[in-house]
Amino acid sequence: MTGGSDMKNFPLHKVVRLIEPGPVVMVSTLYHGRANLMTMGFHMMMQHDPPLIGAIVGPWDYSYDALHTTGECVIAIPGVDLIDKVVDIGNCSGNEVDKFAHFAFTRRKAKQVAPPLVDECLANIECRVADTQLVGQYDFFILEAVQAWINPERKEQRIFHHKGDGTFSVAGRTLNRQDRMIRWKQFQD
Ligand SMILES: Cc1cc2nc3c(=O)[nH]c(=O)nc-3n(C[C@H](O)[C@H](O)[C@H](O)COP(=O)(O)O)c2cc1C
Repeated sequence: MTGGSDMKNFPLHKVVRLIEPGPVVMVSTLYHGRANLMTMGFHMMMQHDPPLIGAIVGPWDYSYDALHTTGECVIAIPGVDLIDKVVDIGNCSGNEVDKFAHFAFTRRKAKQVAPPLVDECLANIECRVADTQLVGQYDFFILEAVQAWINPERKEQRIFHHKGDGTFSVAGRTLNRQDRMIRWKQFQD
């Protein structure tokens, strides 16, 4: 039934704006002795335990060679207060800019991987590439999280999501429905 509905056709090339996942993150890599950051919006959780994360890192990124060659990265999750730096980091290349220095981010030594954590972020997830089967066709790296860090003391805890066109939404209130999650109790603390 179409008559009377307020649903309007939506162009397929803009579907990304409806469902683009989040939060916006930064990928830290270390290549030829130099640390670099890129911005990433296309990623997804794939498995709880061990945690697997799917990540699109394209060959247009300097980070692509770093990730492909070293097999390691850190996913750093910024608070919304860092949005301008994060967008700018996604609009320049580690080929030309020392992004840690230019954007004044602090490197912290990771425990399991060589690329550094980003101290200013809400959370950092140390990852190793677990599977590259879909890289050739889709630039889709499957990463295994091997260590994770959070900063609960950080004042701004809100994350943000890319809406696909240079606009962003900020995560809002947390709604608790744990009492209805009767089949998934194992995922609650
Ligand atoms: C909000 C935002 C989201 C982005 N998401 C991705 C992404 O998911 N995958 C990707 O390959 N590039 C993405 N980019 C582009 C890279 O961040 C950009 O190409 C960056 O300059 C790469 O840095 P590098 O050359 O130092 O690796 C995004 C950029 C922005 C601003």
